[in-house]
Amino acid sequence: MGILEGKRILVTGVLTESSIAFSVAKMAQEEGAQVVLTGFGRLSLVERIAKRLPEPPPVIELDVQNTEHLDSLADRVGEHVGGLDGVVHSIGFAPQSCLGGNFLNTPWEDVATALHVSTYSFKALAQACLPLMKEGGAIVGLDFDASKAWPVYDWMGVAKAGLESCSRYLARDLGGHGIRVNLVAAGPLRTMAAKSIPGFTEFEDSWPGKAPLGWDLGDTVPAAKACLALLSDWFPATTGEIVHVDGGVHAIGG
Ligand SMILES: NC(=O)c1ccc[n+]([C@@H]2O[C@H](COP(=O)([O-])OP(=O)(O)OC[C@H]3O[C@@H](n4cnc5c(N)ncnc54)[C@H](O)[C@@H]3O)[C@@H](O)[C@H]2O)c1
Repeated sequence: MGILEGKRILVTGVLTESSIAFSVAKMAQEEGAQVVLTGFGRLSLVERIAKRLPEPPPVIELDVQNTEHLDSLADRVGEHVGGLDGVVHSIGFAPQSCLGGNFLNTPWEDVATALHVSTYSFKALAQACLPLMKEGGAIVGLDFDASKAWPVYDWMGVAKAGLESCSRYLARDLGGHGIRVNLVAAGPLRTMAAKSIPGFTEFEDSWPGKAPLGWDLGDTVPAAKACLALLSDWFPATTGEIVHVDGGVHAIGG
């Protein structure tokens, strides 16, 4: 029996096969879950990628900046599943001016977009799914360690710091509903989101050597496994937590 047997999981953020969310959806199905995806932008592309999953799941449109999409999400997901036991937030975006060493010159409008899509959306998604989580469950988000200032990550780093805080407040407010809220802080992975960061090679060059366990920039499975564990019944008393899946880099100085 898989660790997610019988669970109904909403997975956001599938864009390509290299998306972290793709691995989460694939392994969740392999572990017995019924998966529903949300897609952003060209849905036909997401639907095509979804067909490469073991069991092609329904794909529902969700732009986290679109209030109508959020307000109708529970009804639209409810057409496919009677409720949800888990939700995965694997969404991030920042305009180019927010990244790559331009920190002092980024205009507020661009920062606002980064915070809207990458930080506030965690709360917005959780709230939108709440009507479907009457029996409790787990919400998991994808983080990049925001405890320090990194090269080139700039305002996305600020957005992730906000995500970490948002996760703790959600854990506070949703605990009474039996809902656990946790983050997986992954090391750098070669996804579309990562490729859009100018200077991402700085991470690629240094991370594998710094990580006590080593680090494979092309392998989203370790991060996905941690997501699955947090969605499962094996962390029943853990909420507001950040699990680092980075080869151990967060623990090492210098
Ligand atoms: N790749 C890395 O190095 C890395 C490391 C740690 C954390 N993360 C985080 O993992 C998450 C997933 O990113 P990924 O690396 O798999 O890249 P990805 O490009 O495959 O996924 C990013 C997703 O965000 C979605 N998105 C963007 N704007 C949206 C909007 N307005 N509404 C709804 N969805 C929107 C995109 O459609 C895409 O599916 C992000 O939160 C990212 O910050 C990535």
